[in-house]
Amino acid sequence: MNWQATVLTLFPEMFPGPLGLSLAGRALEKGLWTCRTEDLRQHGLGRHRAVDDTPFGGGAGMVIRPDVVDAAFAASQAPANVPRVYLTPRGRPLTQQDVRRYAAGSGVLLLCGRFEGVDERVLQAHDVEQVSIGDYILSGGETAGLVLLDACVRLLPGVMGCEESGVEESFSEGLLEYPHYTRPAEWEGRAVPEILLSGNHAAIAAWRQKQAEEITRERRPDLWSAWLARKERNMAEAV
Ligand code: ADE
Repeated sequence: MNWQATVLTLFPEMFPGPLGLSLAGRALEKGLWTCRTEDLRQHGLGRHRAVDDTPFGGGAGMVIRPDVVDAAFAASQAPANVPRVYLTPRGRPLTQQDVRRYAAGSGVLLLCGRFEGVDERVLQAHDVEQVSIGDYILSGGETAGLVLLDACVRLLPGVMGCEESGVEESFSEGLLEYPHYTRPAEWEGRAVPEILLSGNHAAIAAWRQKQAEEITRERRPDLWSAWLARKERNMAEAV
């Protein structure tokens, strides 16, 4: 069976969007994954198909009603066993580990919110994971959902050639990648680091490792501390 993405959204036209092109688009054409949407508006109430209402307790903005989301869940026909994910800046940060877990299963069901959010009760009732793609506020969960799907689809069997798949392994070691260079060897007065032209593969590997470590320490102290801690643990285990 192919990998099934189901998306509950007020903007079904946004899917597959950019994922209909390039790597994910080719995989879609090959039938390696499918992308179905369920329009929340179809489950709105009354003549205006209202999906939201004012928050209890007062405050700004509108909240998507639990009954509307519940009806969309039921109509979506998503497989019962797939993770249910609500994209929200209040969620825990999405990691490559989550992405690997989603990609290894039979698909995901994404709930994309707009307005102030979704009534908390329907998230509990359907055992929904709350996930954020970063510490900034998007106008809705749809673009975050596209990010999550992109990250999953590239890991599906048959989607990437072996050439690209190595990149994923390097990140899973917990360091940012070393910098890359190609021809010309000198460009506008800037030379490629000498070592890369040496043909000494062991020295090149050592240089790249050092670069990866320095860049990680500088740009991502959080990843750097975790990497150091892991290295110490491994060394302690080895003795
Ligand atoms: N919806 C709005 N902002 C978001 C974010 N940063 N991550 C996930 N969903 C969102």
